[in-house]
Amino acid sequence: NKDMKIVEKLYREQTLSDNELKTLIETKNIEATQLLKKYADETRQKYYGKKVFIRGLIEISSYCKNDCLYCGIRRSNNKAERYRLTRDEILTCCKNGYNLGFRTFVMQSGEDGFLTDRFLCSIIREIREKYPDCAITLSFGERSYESYKCLKEAGADRYLLRHEAADPNLYEKLHPKKMSLENRKKCLFNLKELGYQVGAGFMVGAPYQTTEHLINDLRFLQYLQPHMIGIGPFIPHHNTEFANNKSGTVELTLRLLNIIRLMFPKILLPATTALGTVTPNGRELGLQNGCNVVMPNLSPVKVRKKYDLYDNKICTGEEAAECRGCLNRRVKYAGYKIVSERGDYAF
Ligand code: SAM
Ligand code: FES
Repeated sequence: NKDMKIVEKLYREQTLSDNELKTLIETKNIEATQLLKKYADETRQKYYGKKVFIRGLIEISSYCKNDCLYCGIRRSNNKAERYRLTRDEILTCCKNGYNLGFRTFVMQSGEDGFLTDRFLCSIIREIREKYPDCAITLSFGERSYESYKCLKEAGADRYLLRHEAADPNLYEKLHPKKMSLENRKKCLFNLKELGYQVGAGFMVGAPYQTTEHLINDLRFLQYLQPHMIGIGPFIPHHNTEFANNKSGTVELTLRLLNIIRLMFPKILLPATTALGTVTPNGRELGLQNGCNVVMPNLSPVKVRKKYDLYDNKICTGEEAAECRGCLNRRVKYAGYKIVSERGDYAF
């Protein structure tokens, strides 16, 4: 049938026309859906076998000067509890993480003016020195070329900055006027130029999002050629104006993960916490649908609930060691194997 032929073509050619993508994103055909999943898993196994890379996420600050309309820690949410980790707290997270087998640390935060280049570079240098066998990933939002350069020279390897929505109209509906899609895209190209392994991405099922917007996101990713792609369902947060919107669905998220794996065969693709939040076995499903990365939380338990991006976020009560054990079982049950490696892009 027609939809199966489109799946075959995507597997063969790693790309499709807009019309074919639309058909594939929207198809209800069960055989085509199953074939897409099968090819996505084959492709992930061709480059990464059964390996799952783990990234220890350290959420270093919940202060944010931005006001993304969907986000629970947006500046105008005055009910959000704000915190910042100290240098020592961050280093303790790394130490615990290292002992649990993590070889990538991801430091993430809101866009917090307190996080100066001086402060961040000195922490990065110390982590680099203490853990020479670990990769350092940053996710601090939009910063200047000079800042990214300074952080890179201090020892950072990778940077995660979702483009959020490649379509200017959708971007505008999800962000306040002050924020600029052009700048966000520029940041991604700057990061690539500076030699970072770069991650972009978007939310699935965001308010106002259509299939055409998703196709636009895939086209932007084809143009950017990132090393990592982070996608997860949009989930409402009760203190935002999208409080009553519906979450993105598991089905559409898995569909896009399948397509992304086939369009970008070697991509590092996380089964996100948001996917694990919309359904209890979400991350396992992600791994069976093309994902090869999970990002457990290494933040101190006392701040976990305060990094409150969306409602019902999982793993906010568990110690790092509990998450590590829990994930080990989950990944094994899904048929894959966590490895204690940096997990760089398979160039
Ligand atoms: N401030 C940095 C930035 O903007 O890239 C990093 C932190 S930001 C909170 C990390 C990601 O959380 C965003 O890229 C966004 O896609 C995701 N996010 C925020 N609110 C969300 C929601 N309600 N549902 C799902 N994902 C959300
Ligand atoms: Fe955190 Fe299961 S991974 S509790």
